[in-house]
Amino acid sequence: MSINSTISKNLINLENILIIGNGGRENSLAWAIQKNELVKKIYLVPGNGGSERIEKCERIDIDINKKNELAEKLYLLKIDLIVIGPEIPLADGLADFLRKKDFKVFGPGKDGAKLEYSKSWAKEFMEDANIPTAKFWKVKSLEEAKEIIHASTIPLVVKADGLASGKGVFIPDSKDECFRAAEIIFNGKFGNSGNVVVLEEKIQGPEVSVFALCDGEKFILLPSAQDHKRLNENDKGPNTGGMGAYSPAPLLTEDYLNIIIKEIIKPTIVELNKKNIDYKGVIYFGLMITRSGPKVIEYNCRFGDPECQTIMPLMDQNFVFLLEKCSMGNLTGDEVINTTDKVSGCVIATSGGYPNQYKTGFPIKIGNIDSNDFQIFDSGTAQSKNGELLTNGGRVLSIVCQDKDFDTVFEKAYKNLKEIYFDGIYFRNDIGHQVRKNFPKGN
Ligand code: AMP
Ligand code: GLY
Repeated sequence: MSINSTISKNLINLENILIIGNGGRENSLAWAIQKNELVKKIYLVPGNGGSERIEKCERIDIDINKKNELAEKLYLLKIDLIVIGPEIPLADGLADFLRKKDFKVFGPGKDGAKLEYSKSWAKEFMEDANIPTAKFWKVKSLEEAKEIIHASTIPLVVKADGLASGKGVFIPDSKDECFRAAEIIFNGKFGNSGNVVVLEEKIQGPEVSVFALCDGEKFILLPSAQDHKRLNENDKGPNTGGMGAYSPAPLLTEDYLNIIIKEIIKPTIVELNKKNIDYKGVIYFGLMITRSGPKVIEYNCRFGDPECQTIMPLMDQNFVFLLEKCSMGNLTGDEVINTTDKVSGCVIATSGGYPNQYKTGFPIKIGNIDSNDFQIFDSGTAQSKNGELLTNGGRVLSIVCQDKDFDTVFEKAYKNLKEIYFDGIYFRNDIGHQVRKNFPKGN
């Protein structure tokens, strides 16, 4: 990274960092941040069963909804930089509150988080900025939805407007399925998040995630990534939070990237500024590369999970400087991220039954693993009273490897996965199939 770390050392205080969130994403952020020698302590609120295995990390048990108590605690801990991981506290205005209390915060305010927490607002935003995306209709009642579905001559997807933990998107195969999806949403499955429904033109093409660290005006891009959203092999089955990922995504050629910067990323930031939104955080562009070029499927106001776990091991010790610069509005936009020349891959091990009902509380045993360029970031784990690691979520562990090519990466990941046990463990064996030369095609 061509950031002058000597200058940074003299000017920046980064002794105490706070990360909000409890997933693999937040553990991987902590892991990348602890590499910097200026960082002495990283607090995770609430973190999970694996957070304290990461150097310099300590969990603190405090309710982030009690905002004043939280701020007092953070003054006492002399927190220099706060990184907010998940969308819910961002949508809830936690970044605005903490900024008002004079903390440096990486994460957008409520106005910027609207890119994620209202899909209809994000679509109108893209329309205003002339950003390529699927056609859409915003509807406020089932009758209205039915009319549009009935009259439509193109296949549609059906989305709850608000936050729904990645479960509010339906990809129907027929008009009947569209009606049913709209009914499910309007009948309250997602609470207030389903008061409005977005109907969208169904578009096609491979997907890629692009992450822009943004300081309000300038931005720099992290390596791209591709995740696997479907539960089962061959990208079949229900959508999940993400079953694995790889980075960088070779699909994203320099030509595509230049188009994406020109037609999508820059216009997004210009439009944010036009709307007086001072966005200091990461903008996650969920893109589809269609025959007519890259289009935005969705924006998120946070790092992707498991993309973040996949990308963080590629960062060097200067990563935390980028977060700090964004929080201060100090990016030059010329910072170059010198990643390792390795590629990275991640496989998620889930509880049996995820993304539907599953049981938790099973002991996790880790045998003899090859720990070279290998990380286990806990996603949903807890520690029992006697310190035993237990499953505590749908997505349990993120298994991450780096090496010179994707075949070696995934060979190592799957070899190590054979050494990891818990009752009901499930994972896909074909993560990264698009980029594994030795993976039998047509599978
Ligand atoms: P989202 O939560 O909006 O990212 O949607 C979840 C997934 O649904 C995406 O990753 C796509 O695979 C799929 N999807 C969303 N919108 C569309 C669309 N307009 N056309 C086709 N597939 C879509
Ligand atoms: N990996 C998809 C997401 O974080 O939304």
